[in-house]
Amino acid sequence: MKLKNIAIGLAAALSVAACAPKSDMDKYIDDLMSRMTLEQKIGQLNLHSASGFISALRVTEEDENVKLLRAGRLGGIYGSGNTEYLREIQKVALESGAGIPLITGMDVIHGFETVFPVPLALSTSWNPDLVEKTARIAAKEATARGINWVFSPMVDICRDARWGRIVEGGGEDPFLGGELAKAYVYGYQGRDDAFDNTDVMTCVKHYALYGGAEAGRDYNSVFLSRQEALNGYLRPYQQAAYAGAGSYMSSFNEFEGIPATMNTYLMDELLRKAWGFEGFIVSDATAILEEVAHGIGDLQEVSARSLQAGLDMDMNSDGFVGTLEKSLREGRIYQADIDRACRRILEAKYKLGLFDDPFKYLDPERAARDVYTPEHLAFAREAARECLVLLKNDGVLPLKKGTRVAVVGPLANDASAMAGTWSMSSHNAESISLFQGISEVTPATYAEGSWLFKDKEIEENILYGMMKVFAPGRQLPPIHTVPQQKLVADAVAKARQADVVIACVGEVPNMNGEGASRTDISVPDAQVELLKALKATGKPVVMVLVTGRPLTLNWENEQMDAILNVWSPGSEGGRAVADVLFGDYSPSAKLTTSFPRAVGQLPLYYNHKNTGRPHPDDEPYRKFTSCYEDELNGPLYPFGFGLSYTTFEYSPVTLSSAEMPMDGSVTASVTVTNSGGRDADEIVQLYIHDIYATSTRPVKELKGFKKVHIAAGASVKVDFTLTKEELSYFNHDCDWVCEPGDFEIMVGPNSWDTEAVILRVL
Ligand code: BGC
Repeated sequence: MKLKNIAIGLAAALSVAACAPKSDMDKYIDDLMSRMTLEQKIGQLNLHSASGFISALRVTEEDENVKLLRAGRLGGIYGSGNTEYLREIQKVALESGAGIPLITGMDVIHGFETVFPVPLALSTSWNPDLVEKTARIAAKEATARGINWVFSPMVDICRDARWGRIVEGGGEDPFLGGELAKAYVYGYQGRDDAFDNTDVMTCVKHYALYGGAEAGRDYNSVFLSRQEALNGYLRPYQQAAYAGAGSYMSSFNEFEGIPATMNTYLMDELLRKAWGFEGFIVSDATAILEEVAHGIGDLQEVSARSLQAGLDMDMNSDGFVGTLEKSLREGRIYQADIDRACRRILEAKYKLGLFDDPFKYLDPERAARDVYTPEHLAFAREAARECLVLLKNDGVLPLKKGTRVAVVGPLANDASAMAGTWSMSSHNAESISLFQGISEVTPATYAEGSWLFKDKEIEENILYGMMKVFAPGRQLPPIHTVPQQKLVADAVAKARQADVVIACVGEVPNMNGEGASRTDISVPDAQVELLKALKATGKPVVMVLVTGRPLTLNWENEQMDAILNVWSPGSEGGRAVADVLFGDYSPSAKLTTSFPRAVGQLPLYYNHKNTGRPHPDDEPYRKFTSCYEDELNGPLYPFGFGLSYTTFEYSPVTLSSAEMPMDGSVTASVTVTNSGGRDADEIVQLYIHDIYATSTRPVKELKGFKKVHIAAGASVKVDFTLTKEELSYFNHDCDWVCEPGDFEIMVGPNSWDTEAVILRVL
């Protein structure tokens, strides 16, 4: 696909469309807009939070949003799942101004009331069908509560684990990210074009490249070349557009010196013209206002520029509603700019069916029937089992039921840590903690074991940072009330009486997500102190890691008997973890982010370039090659890695033909044998390497994956079809090209252990 060709094709299609008869939607909106005042049109471009996320809110005339609606100055609200409130405010919308229903948004990120594993965890299932099903259930629950628009999927590629928001996305690979992006869109919106009352409109975020934040510091600038952005980062946003995503959210960062929220290249040239996106774009919260701090101009100027660059809706900046009329009067913008954005928002409302029935998503019977059901919770457990990555196992796992275990650590009995970031609509306190899940299958004791951090101020900032911003001055519960030594001693005493210790350590949810960047991504010091004391008891220690990002685990990898990375596994997390620890399910998840050995390696990603002085990942320092004096280049655990309770053997990869004409295809095959003692799932991965190209290419790029179930002792042949599509890339001119020549085709269980054959493309 050449970007330019697509643009020309689209332009031709548009000129045909200009002569085509108007659709019913166009006619309806023409008529509606002909009756709207300028103020009402600008009002459609305004999105507000539901009065500060107060979910128990009742609608009163003092409510800021009601006042705006009465003045025809509000097009949507977000952040409330309170069905009664949404019903009442929808009534206000209908009786005010042009009587246009509100679009009602919400951050539904990994489930709604039933919570699934955090998105980074879900990606480690490498299972788009599973992801689609979680999004479908989330859509069903959210729409039953009155929500018709979700701020998801978050598809930002990230190569730097310091960035806390890595937890919200699908990892470091654009191909896998693209497959998952489509799955989310299909799950939320349904597979057909129509929206029924269980389908919700997606908002793909954060467009674009937010995950490239320099030094992993949230909201930081992004310095990527256009070519690298296209090859390494943009595919998931593109695939979401191809899947029919209804809306996008512009990101906080800049790209090529222009904030994304006013970036014509990103919004207009790429998303709309090259990828054919026809929906609307909303800014991230206060992102227009933030363009003032970016140094572009005052609020009037940045609002005008954002609108003209292709942004349609303003979230929380009051830039559009506050300045566009003036800009129009002064000739800074045109009426057509406002009309275009207004039309796109009305189209979204039309597609959702809100003009036919503004209460379509406010059916009280559905709220009672479709939310937090036993079936949804059962699926949450199933989903979570597929997202637990076994990083190390000296043979201690799986445990036998009946084994006496000591479940210790500050995350061991923390139900809310199971749900993870963005789970404010869920029943957090009811989530199944690790201790609860484990005690349901074996005799277990519990001890808290340690503080989170030795530094009280760091711990307080983590636990209460959000409240300090949103409820300043509120009295907060004291921390570190029990001495660390006492907590450790209690845990050690319990460990001594057990056969096996299960140590649950890592990150509480506030340690990842938005505004949660870290420069030290190790297990926090107080918790390592606990691990050392447990190790000294001589009992086998299984470390259960709760985290939203890759951590540096060198010491733990050496000292612990097993490490199971469970992320934040959702509502049924504790039970799913017990299923794996006690062998009811053999772990199958594989990492979608490299786990570094040291924070100084970041950014770290498997699909890096070779450099002119390449240095193998696992070889020690050698002067004048591209490497470190004090650490290996490679990660501790590579992309694609994860252990199982069985073993798999891979045959050499074969090709149906060693040569492929440019417009032809070949099949790459391997036979995978389950050589261990139990049935299990395996994720088979295909990588390519373009040996010589007109631009430099990564050492490996994922271009296919299949998850297969293989019975003990059985073999399965796994085929991948390759065409020029899989072998193409964006060249220096940003054209999508496949260049003739030799490619390495590699298949294996992870990005390290692959066998290669050569394919010649003619
Ligand atoms: C986040 C978005 C989110 C929005 C609305 C912003 O701070 O960056 O991801 O959708 O808030 O809650």
